[in-house]
This record gives sequence, C-alpha cells and structure tokens, in this order.
Amino acid sequence: MTIIIDTDPGIDDAIAILYALRHPAMDVAAITTVAGNIGLSVTTRNAGRICALAGSDTPVHSGAAAPLGVKARPETGIHGNDGLGGVDFPEPTQAPRSTDAVAAMEALLEAHPPRTIDLHCLGPLTNLALLLQRAPKAAARIRRVIAMGGAVDEPGNVGPKSEFNIAHDPHAAAEVLAAGLDFTLIPLDATRQFRADKIYIAELRASGHTPAIASAALIDAYFAATNGAESRPLHDPCVPLLAQNPQHFRIVTRDLAVELNTGALVPGPHRIKVAMGLDAPALRAELLRGLCA
Ligand code: RIB
Ligand code: CA
Repeated sequence: MTIIIDTDPGIDDAIAILYALRHPAMDVAAITTVAGNIGLSVTTRNAGRICALAGSDTPVHSGAAAPLGVKARPETGIHGNDGLGGVDFPEPTQAPRSTDAVAAMEALLEAHPPRTIDLHCLGPLTNLALLLQRAPKAAARIRRVIAMGGAVDEPGNVGPKSEFNIAHDPHAAAEVLAAGLDFTLIPLDATRQFRADKIYIAELRASGHTPAIASAALIDAYFAATNGAESRPLHDPCVPLLAQNPQHFRIVTRDLAVELNTGALVPGPHRIKVAMGLDAPALRAELLRGLCA
C-alpha cells in the first residue's frame, strides 16, 4: 500500500515513521510536515533526520506553519526544543523536496489510480484540511485516512476533553470530519492503552538494531518529560500499526463533531470509525519486530 505520512515529529511521530519506513507492505511515497509539537522548520528538519537515520530517501515536503483558525501552541514540554527529546539523530541527507505539502499530496494522488493511497495523520490536520479546500478532487482519490487524535470517553491531554492534535487546529479537524472521507480515528481512548515501560525500552535497546535503539532513546526522553511515570503512551505508532494489524484493534463507529472553542470531540452528525481498544502486548511485539526488520 502506498502511503503519505503527515506529521509533526515529535518523539512518538519518529517511532511511527521508523516503523512505517521499514515495513515491506508500506511504500511511503512522501512525508509531509505540519507545525504542531514544535514549529514547522523543526518538524521538517526532524522528518529529514528520521529519514537519514533510516537510510531512506523518502521525499519530505513542508506544509502548514500554523493552524487554520487559532494561534499555534507547541508542546516543547514533552518533545523538547529540538522536537526529538534531544536524542542524537543525524542531520538530513537531503533538503525538503518542496515547501508545498498540499501540492505534493495533490500531485501524488493525481499520479496514482484512485483509492490506492492511504494518508496517515500523526499531527494536527491542517494540511489535510487545506488539501480538501484547494484540491477536493484529489482528496476524493484518497483510499482511507488513519489519524491519531481526539478523546472520546477519555479525558483530554491539553484540556478536560481536548487532545493535542485536534485542539491544535480544531477548524481543520472539523473540516476533515465533515468531508465524508473513509476516516479512522485513533483517540487517547486507545493510544493510552499502548504503553512502553523500562523493560520494553531495554528490549528495544538489546535488539542492536538502529531504529529500535533510537526508539528506546526517544521513549527514554519521553520519560524524562514526566516525573515518576511507570510507562508512557505511544500515541502515533498506533497509526501504522493499525494499518497493518487491524486485528489488534477494537474499532467502532461513532457520530461525532468538533467543538471549535476547545477542540473537544462531541456528539455530532459525522459518522467515523474510532479505535477504542487494542491488544497492547501483541502491538508491542509487532512494533519491536518491525523496528528490527
Ligand atoms: O496527543 C498526542 C498527539 O499530540 C501525538 O500526535 C503527539 O505527537 C502530539 O502531536
Ligand atoms: Ca504527532
């Protein structure tokens, strides 16, 4: 399956990307970056650094530098000022292919047969909303979108019911939910069940494989951003893991909307697929396997 990864790397984004780049069943045609966890120049540089560590020449296209309708609120408290928790990644081996992620998405979608590209969204949905506005015919050629974001029954992480990706750009999220795409959301309700502890970090490190060792260092940095946590949730890796291992997720349909003032998911008219549970041991084993492949 050909995929485009839209991302704000980002500690957990980086692990998701390393897994996707190595997976034989996923051809990552492009990585498009968006401002989110950190500013656009840093997320874009980090996408290049992640590709350099993976030995990948996947093109990187930078996208939206700010949300559609609200002021940006980065999350450097978790991801650090460099966006990767200070973990030692190489410098990019290639410059970004372009500074117009939306045009790149449109070109890829037009160049491939309809319904042959999946979009994996790991950050705020600004780029996808802009694609829907600027190139609706191209957007209609997307097979499916899998996005990490939102909180359905779980509390939020940036507000009582607000999760970072949706709340960072609620206007974009609202447009995406209303677009009628084949859309699967993986909210905190599921991703908080997918946790890494110190034992898992040691398993990754003991593998001797560079992407797994880098992921161990990223999760260690994740721990450093919190005091005393026994484990840390791996939000974004759930996206490529669901794409390739749907049997390990419990997916339901929900009728939702986005509350624009807070970015909270509320009952509404848009019927979407929502992952509400997962088999964490099976997915941890699969992530370890994939990072060592
Ligand atoms: O709420 C978790 C999401 O926000 C993840 O995508 C993480 O990278 C941050 O962007
Ligand atoms: Ca992210």
